[in-house]
Amino acid sequence: MKNLIFIGPPGAGKGTQAQRLTGRLGVPQVSTGDMLRAARKAGTELGRKADEFMSKGALVPDEVVIGLVQERIALADASHGFVLDGFPRTVPQAESLDRMLAKAGKKIDDVVLLEVPDELIVERITGRRVGETSGRIYHLKYDPPPSPDRGEGGERLLLRADDREDVVRQRLADYAALTAPLVAWYAGKGLLRRVDGVGALDDVTAALFRAIGVN
Ligand code: AP5
Repeated sequence: MKNLIFIGPPGAGKGTQAQRLTGRLGVPQVSTGDMLRAARKAGTELGRKADEFMSKGALVPDEVVIGLVQERIALADASHGFVLDGFPRTVPQAESLDRMLAKAGKKIDDVVLLEVPDELIVERITGRRVGETSGRIYHLKYDPPPSPDRGEGGERLLLRADDREDVVRQRLADYAALTAPLVAWYAGKGLLRRVDGVGALDDVTAALFRAIGVN
């Protein structure tokens, strides 16, 4: 059983590596970005509210995201572990997570920081394509799909609405101001595992597995 957190700037490879790791560990990936995009697509009130922030590259208010995560990690499939991808992202979110886990008698085992310099981020994000049904993440150059607009099994590939260069700059600024302080927060608790996110995908996966003791 492992309860993990992935932290890193937009486009660092959190979703990509979380998909690989959850496949290996058999625990769910809990991506707040994916949950918010699903709510937006479904046209729920929460989705409409989240879209006001997401389309500008701003963080959605803490209370909205905290409620989503609380409900998600209480589900049966997360009882033997989970990989939190994109949460927590602010100190108040991290404090809430501590409280919700303590109540449930759980704890975080490792916090993985995927480190990628800003100058690589825009290329990664603008080349990203996501499978409409599977959510599988591709990159046109670094992890190419069978064709530029179709993924495995022929599924349609989508571009995320917030993957425009101007929006990415805002997301990077928010990461530096609001999320980067969590690095010191988790280092202070002895939970931080730094992983170099630059390099071939399989090499990053191998480094990540080593960092958290998964064979
Ligand atoms: P979210 O969906 O969490 O986006 P993000 O954190 O900005 O991260 P990304 O999904 O863009 O990147 P990633 O690190 O997962 O990279 P990926 O693996 O796809 O959040 C979106 C929005 O939702 C936020 O802006 C906010 O509005 C809201 N939100 C979400 N959570 C929130 C929270 N907790 N609080 C408040 N608001 C919240 O990889 C990127 C690309 O690079 C892919 O194409 C991939 O194939 C490629 N790639 C990956 N690794 C490599 C490699 N080693 N070499 C070359 N290419 C690579």
